[in-house]
Amino acid sequence: MNKKIVVAVTGASGSIYAKLLLDKLQDLQAQIAEVAIVMSDNARQVWEFELGNTTHSSYPFTVYAKNDFMAPFASGSAKFDTMVVVPCSMGTMGRIAAGVSDDLITRAADVILKERRRLILVARDTPLNLIQIRNMATVTEAGGIICPAIPSFYSKPQTVEDVAMTVVNRVIDLIGLENESYRWDGM
Ligand SMILES: Cc1cc2nc3c(=O)[nH]c(=O)nc-3n(C[C@H](O)[C@H](O)[C@H](O)COP(=O)(O)O)c2cc1C
Repeated sequence: MNKKIVVAVTGASGSIYAKLLLDKLQDLQAQIAEVAIVMSDNARQVWEFELGNTTHSSYPFTVYAKNDFMAPFASGSAKFDTMVVVPCSMGTMGRIAAGVSDDLITRAADVILKERRRLILVARDTPLNLIQIRNMATVTEAGGIICPAIPSFYSKPQTVEDVAMTVVNRVIDLIGLENESYRWDGM
């Protein structure tokens, strides 16, 4: 019950990943001290376009405006230990890789990296250009984790949600939460 987690949602395709992660964090609240949400403008637009709803505003978590530098996690002293950017656009990843702290998302990522805490970018685009690949390397060298929004199929997912959950369950593992999910056992 000690984890303080920032969930940043950006305007890449794959709002379903953000939705399913927030649903899961709600289910696992007994293990979590605090979840904070921050969304880019494009994230709201893409969520509403892809999912056809505005449920991003209905979680029992505080939503911070993307320019609110007064938010606790804009400072390392607030001791948020994990930040997930889900889905992470190539633009946001590039700004994080370049250290451009010009909004709350990029500032919070900068803080997490400087404090040597856990930054997980659920990066989404395909195919990738060399700039994007180099940005992934830069973030990795700085201690961040690139967890691409690439589903797996060996659990034989049956629905779109099941497919997306194969990514979200890996994110939950990376955050370090106990979670019952499909585990490969070689069978
Ligand atoms: C429907 C839709 C899907 C998009 N999908 C992606 C994507 O998969 N990856 C990506 O990097 N950008 C994608 N974009 C473009 C980003 O929204 C755009 O680059 C934006 O500037 C990202 O800003 P943000 O990182 O502040 O959200 C998409 C845009 C729209 C409207």
